[in-house]
Amino acid sequence: MIKPHGSEILKPLYVADDTQRVTLIEEAENLPSLLISSGAAASAVMLGSGYFNPLTGYMNIAEAMGVAENMTLPDGLFWPVPVMNIVQTEQLTELVKEGGRIALRDPNVEGNPLLAIMEVSAIEALSDEQRTFLIEKIFRTTDSAHPGVAAFADMGNQVISGAIQVLNYSYFRSDFADTFRTAVEIREEIAKMGWNKVVAFQTRNPMHRAHEELCKIAQQEVAADGILIHMLLGKLKPGDIPAPVRNAAIRKMVELYFPENTVLITGYGFDMLYAGPREAVLHAVFRQNCGCSHLIVGRDHAGVGDYYGPFDAQTIFDDIPAGALEIEIFRGDHTVWCNECNQIVMMRDCPHGPDDYLFLSGTKVRDMLSAGESLPPEFSHPEVAEILMKHYQKEAAQA
Ligand code: ADX
Repeated sequence: MIKPHGSEILKPLYVADDTQRVTLIEEAENLPSLLISSGAAASAVMLGSGYFNPLTGYMNIAEAMGVAENMTLPDGLFWPVPVMNIVQTEQLTELVKEGGRIALRDPNVEGNPLLAIMEVSAIEALSDEQRTFLIEKIFRTTDSAHPGVAAFADMGNQVISGAIQVLNYSYFRSDFADTFRTAVEIREEIAKMGWNKVVAFQTRNPMHRAHEELCKIAQQEVAADGILIHMLLGKLKPGDIPAPVRNAAIRKMVELYFPENTVLITGYGFDMLYAGPREAVLHAVFRQNCGCSHLIVGRDHAGVGDYYGPFDAQTIFDDIPAGALEIEIFRGDHTVWCNECNQIVMMRDCPHGPDDYLFLSGTKVRDMLSAGESLPPEFSHPEVAEILMKHYQKEAAQA
């Protein structure tokens, strides 16, 4: 199986030893607490799960600036997106000190339980210029209407960096017991399936027929033994479909329309950044960490609105230093139903044109399903559309 990023074996930051974990939980009772942001909590879950291997914790400002500027940490490690713990000044007490240990508290679970213990190596104030620089590099825009930019800009300016030990997986393990998997567990599952080449499909949406075909074409073209459907289970922008609904729709599609034992349906605990190209590279890093040989990057991967060109998330990989990553990218063209071919096609493989294609925007799909109208079967399998329709109708009834 492909090696993890930056080390020979995975070094997840979750404390797996029960006795050691209990000791740390007891220690935390007497440590100063810090309530962190949802994004930082999700990063703790990613660090704990081995997806962010080989990082040992949150970056300081100099490290984050280097990563933003040229995707490199001071020790030379390739890394595409800063992983930071930024809080508002009001969250800090004088008990949180450089050199001290603190208990990181989870904003996403009632009662703000303990999530991790942190060894604070620095507490620094992020200047407005530094914040703008980071945002510009990560998101390629500073427009506050961009949901990722807005979330970053909202985080305050106290940067608390240092190594962490992770003590649980926040709400992901309990809320998504069948789907949430750590990178360690995915490597184990891939080994159990006896797969060597595995193509990963990143998604934050339900999967329609275009997505199904994209996966099948990629599997065939790279001759993969299996497909890892790996869905984001963390926070999304308003209007995106909640994870439990997506999960149910994806499971139904795989059950009915993929050959048995060719797909693992899994998820990871991270909030969506909507950072397009940079997020695609981060996606590649953590799919390498979970043992996948390929990542599918299709049209407008991890994008939002019109901030990125449709294939910017593919071309960014042209600028990555050779050898920085071992995982390979399957670059997918737009997949769509073609009336002439009478099937879903990848546009680059089809001689027909836009007049023959069935395009439905996300808004149109939402409007149709909310109104109880069936989606064309060429676009979505009826069993999948039915699950989505129930969700939209419930939402419409509550509005
Ligand atoms: S993402 O934000 O998680 O990337 P989404 O779940 O919509 O969003 O897409 C998952 C993957 O499918 C991405 O690689 C994306 O580029 C690709 N994709 C989605 N729709 C299409 C399409 N019609 N044609 C080609 N690729 C697509």
